[in-house]
Order: sequence, then structure tokens, then C-alpha cells
Amino acid sequence: MNVILLGPPGVGKGTAAKKMVEVYGIPQISTGDLLREAVKNKTDLGLKAKKYMDAGELVPDDLVIGLLKERVAKDDCRKGFILDGFPRTIPQAESLDASGIRIDVVVNLHADESVIVERLSGRRDCPKCGAIYHIKNKPPKKPDTCDACQGALITRDDQKEEVIQNRLQVYRKQTEPLIRYYEKKGIQKTVNAVQTIEKVFADIQKAVGQA
Ligand code: AP5
Repeated sequence: MNVILLGPPGVGKGTAAKKMVEVYGIPQISTGDLLREAVKNKTDLGLKAKKYMDAGELVPDDLVIGLLKERVAKDDCRKGFILDGFPRTIPQAESLDASGIRIDVVVNLHADESVIVERLSGRRDCPKCGAIYHIKNKPPKKPDTCDACQGALITRDDQKEEVIQNRLQVYRKQTEPLIRYYEKKGIQKTVNAVQTIEKVFADIQKAVGQA
């Protein structure tokens, strides 16, 4: 099963993808995580990507497409994968089509912007194991400490108020047109993301089951 999770920053793509990994046993491929890893390791690509990411802009298509294709070609993707944060532009979607990689369903997570801003500003990440928390909606048992691996939780660099606003603007302009793109292909399903994490996941399972 090859799935795309589409939706604005902070809508809950990463949270849902992690549950899907547990249940379906297929990997989550987050271009955001791949890029942050490249930035951390100071690779050529990471050094180029950093300035875009810190400003809330998209990293140029050619850099991200190469990164994604390399990842999808790995053995663990043979049974399927969850694309989280890719594609994010029409050229990225077209390049995915051109590469012959089949997509079964595109789950479009929807929430109003006020909800998104609240979710993004309260998010905390574990840089060690990738777990995602929220200070109100999904707090860790011990403040600022990951339940799973005891790592120290961090606030991402792109969570500043002005960067969040730019990310939302970039989403509206460059990524939202993908909803129509996949609607036309007949594989797009919208899920209401303004529900509990469990309910959102249950609706995703229904959407994926119908694919
Ligand atoms: P990326 O890492 O992909 O970030 P994003 O899409 O902006 O999404 P987030 O990870 O911020 O949010 P999310 O939707 O996963 O929500 P989450 O589950 O964390 O990209 C970062 C940057 O990398 C981009 O700006 C760009 O520069 C670059 N990039 C990445 N991909 C690219 C591409 N393809 N092309 C070009 N550039 C690219 O949830 C948010 C919070 O809400 C959490 O605290 C969570 O606990 C909480 N929450 C989640 N679900 C619920 C719920 N149902 N109820 C209550 N709280 C909830």
C-alpha cells in the first residue's frame, strides 16, 4: 500500500504516519525528517536546504525529488510506504508520476488555520527517536522528556510565529493545488483532522481501506 499524507504544516501528518507505521508495518518517509537529518549531518544538500527551511520556504524541487527517489528505492519500501510531506508542489507530484511509482491513496488531512497554529506552537519533538508531543494535547509524562527513550524534547527552529505564518502561506500557494490534482485522479480522500488523534487515525484507516 503506497499512501500520501497531504495537509498543511502542523495538521498532524507526522502523528498519523507514526500510528500507520505501527499498524501497517510500512515505513514513514518524511521529506522534512530526511532534510533535517541532512542539515544535522552538514551534507552538501543539508547546507543548501537549511536557509529555506529556517525561513519556512520550500526546498527547491530538484534537491527534494532526488532525496525522495533514493529513499523509496530502499528494500523496506517493497511492501509499501507512507509519504509524509511529499509531494509538496505540482512539479514534485509530476515527477513522482513520471518515475512510475504507484500511489494508491492520498489522504488529505483538513483543519482550520487557528487549530494548526495552536498545534504547531505547542509541539515538542524528540530528536533521538522522532516521537511527537504537544504540551496540551499529548503531553509527555515527565516535562520536556520523551516517554519512549527519555531524550530531551526540543522545539523545532521553524516553530516561531512569523515562520509558521510563512509556512501556511507557502502551503496555500504551492501545496494546496495538489488536492485538486489528486481529486482529478480519483484517489484523494479528505479526513477531518479536528478530532482526537485516535479518531483521526480511525478515519484514515477507513479512507485507506477503501483505496
Ligand atoms: P515538515 O517536517 O514536513 O513539516 P510540515 O509539513 O510543515 O509538517 P509538520 O511536521 O510541522 O506537522 P505535521 O503535519 O507532521 O503535524 P504533527 O504530527 O507534527 O517540513 C519542514 C520543512 O522542510 C518545510 O517547511 C520545507 O522547508 C522542507 N520540506 C519538507 N518536505 C519538502 C518537500 N517535499 N519539498 C520542499 N521542501 C520540503 O502535529 C503537530 C502537533 O499537533 C503535534 O504537537 C501533535 O502532538 C499535535 N496533534 C497532531 N494531531 C492531533 C490531533 N488530532 N489532536 C490534537 N493534537 C494533535
